[in-house]
Amino acid sequence: MSKLPETRLRRLRRTESLRTLTGQPFPTLGKMIWPVFAVEGENQRIEIGSMPGQFRMSADELCRAVEPLAEQGLGGLMLFGVVDEALKDAGGSYAFADNGLVQRTVKTLKAGFPDLTLFTDVCLCGYTDHGHCGALHAGTEIDNDKTLVLLQKVALSHAAAGADGVAPSAMMDGQVAAIRRALETNGYTDTVLMSYSTKFASALYGPFREAAESSPQCGDRKAYQLDPSDPRQALRESKIDEEEGADILMVKPATFYLDVISKVRENTELPLAAYNVSGEYAMIHALANSGGGDLHALARENLAAIQRAGADMILTYWANQYEQIF
Ligand code: PBG
Ligand code: ZN
Repeated sequence: MSKLPETRLRRLRRTESLRTLTGQPFPTLGKMIWPVFAVEGENQRIEIGSMPGQFRMSADELCRAVEPLAEQGLGGLMLFGVVDEALKDAGGSYAFADNGLVQRTVKTLKAGFPDLTLFTDVCLCGYTDHGHCGALHAGTEIDNDKTLVLLQKVALSHAAAGADGVAPSAMMDGQVAAIRRALETNGYTDTVLMSYSTKFASALYGPFREAAESSPQCGDRKAYQLDPSDPRQALRESKIDEEEGADILMVKPATFYLDVISKVRENTELPLAAYNVSGEYAMIHALANSGGGDLHALARENLAAIQRAGADMILTYWANQYEQIF
């Protein structure tokens, strides 16, 4: 039944100012975490082919890239290390090397930007010669509980280097409890634990795996990451990680899983992050490059959707282009 002329919703859409007044604010830069890839050396700034505008950087270049963003109020960084094949072994031991690449880069970043929140990705896939997120037994099966001990060492080494938060992404059972226990017993009582609690076995990680050189050499990650068709198990993963002591939960990827973001949001009082992953970023670039849409308008719409679904913070490669998008 039409209510014309009393009800005319277009009245509130007539001007930019009215639309801004009635709408929700766009997520600020303070709500965004920029994922970055560290490499060895100096003056290294190597563009990642499938991710225009994203680079693997040595610590000095990373500092130069972060400086203007920190001034503009960037929410945080998520740090990944990209290491030489020669440093990789079956158990990913370089991931917890005393003075390894990530550990050194954490120190440099914290020295330069003490107030900027620095998270580190805690996983083994960038450090194992087979490319899986854990140690294997009997050839191809992941040894869950052996992996927990390795992840504890990685998290402790990052906390010791000065990371504000550690973010386990291996999707092993019990990883949050194991890491929380290790942090507590070693005196790292203030280290934030952001769990990649709700991480799907997605086809959208391709560009990242190129960037991080972390593809599984055989098989896939379906035996540990969530099945995209199982939203109930996704909720159970979130609940269990909350019980195990996570400070922040995460849904990953974001855009294909907006339903999961809102469901997790309804089921927890914890802060919720969403990871706007490499494939989501590359998709938008592909559309814009083909002339199918405006790059920054697409990015804006995507980020707004993730926020609308219920994410408090967004891990996104758009963070270093915030000014152009907004
Ligand atoms: C590794 C990890 C991945 C991403 C973040 N941490 C890839 C994977 O699980 O294969 C993906 C991030 C992205 O695609 O942007 N555990
Ligand atoms: Zn991994």
